[in-house]
Amino acid sequence: MLVEKNIPLQGLNSFGIVAKALSFVRLQSLADVDALLADPVRHAAPKFILGGGSNIVLTGDVKPLVLKVDITGKRLVSQTEKAWIVEAGAGENWHDLVTWTLQNGYPGLENLALIPGSVGASPVQNIGAYGVELQDRFDSLDAVDLTTGQRFSLNAAQCAFGYRDSVFKHVSDRGFGLAGKALITHVRFALAKNWKPVLGYADIEKKRLQANIENPTALQIYEWVCEIRRAKLPDWRVLGNAGSFFKNPTVSNEQCLDIIEREPKIVHYVLADGSVKLAAGWLIDACGWKGKTIGNAGVYERQALVLVNRGGQANPVTGGEVMTLAKSIQTSVYERFGIMLEHEPVVV
Ligand code: EPU
Repeated sequence: MLVEKNIPLQGLNSFGIVAKALSFVRLQSLADVDALLADPVRHAAPKFILGGGSNIVLTGDVKPLVLKVDITGKRLVSQTEKAWIVEAGAGENWHDLVTWTLQNGYPGLENLALIPGSVGASPVQNIGAYGVELQDRFDSLDAVDLTTGQRFSLNAAQCAFGYRDSVFKHVSDRGFGLAGKALITHVRFALAKNWKPVLGYADIEKKRLQANIENPTALQIYEWVCEIRRAKLPDWRVLGNAGSFFKNPTVSNEQCLDIIEREPKIVHYVLADGSVKLAAGWLIDACGWKGKTIGNAGVYERQALVLVNRGGQANPVTGGEVMTLAKSIQTSVYERFGIMLEHEPVVV
């Protein structure tokens, strides 16, 4: 375990923003975490946990000690009559884990294929796509409390999952919140033995009808999801981005009816509690943002919810440009629809 100085972060964030970590350490094992916390100066230092770097906007050099979690390993840890319990190290690549589970005969994560990022980051924002959220397949996780050095495990209820939300996104307040405090080391998934496909989502249904397959396998769904994502979402290695930049907002039924009166074409989904989820991509698109740029920050031409780095590696977008574009989008969506969009990535 070596603490390094002035480490470039351009290759470690999916926007490709240039910034440095003033101090940086790779953690490859629990022993590395223990060794780090055994040093009183490093124990006391403010810290920033870096996973796959696919959900962050760097607005300058990072002053807190950057902890790059590189704990690896994928294995079947146990099984019950109902489910396989698969465990992965927090530093594993998410998509590699999805592929590995399917290759080894444990289906259930196929709808979440090709989501960028690390296994350790997956519960933080409760990643989700095509009708499945991480919380639907989650068993438990192990973490270390960076303030005390204590190891602990959490079940799903203790993670307080919500839409792109969890206890790890909240700063400790009246006992709730583990942001910046908990370092996730391992995550376990419960993959049901009586697997059933999740097919309701429109893009998947389209693929199923095209292929004329009544009962697809998990591997077929995996391939469809990969095809859909490749067609709709830019590969961050080619065009820097952080996935969906805004959350899909939820409004009350009355608010929605009022908007529908003015905007009959608005894309909306009624939720079980009567509230209505709106498609942020549609709202941004309707305001004419698709394909627009400010400086080197752009709105992706095939999905308005994705902001991209138009300057490539040579002349990359800055975090300031990304946030200026994000604020301009928020203002125009607010002026037209009366809805304030909430950004999803963590701004550092
Ligand atoms: N739409 C437009 N214009 C656009 C973008 C979208 O009109 O520029 C419309 C689409 O036609 C569709 C609706 O908006 O009717 C929803 O679009 P889409 O199906 O692409 O899904 P989304 O709501 O924009 C969410 C997640 C994605 C996830 C997909 C599939 C959020 C913030 N985003 O996107 O997650 O992959 O559903 O389940 O919930 C991510 O979090 O990084 C991410 C990519």
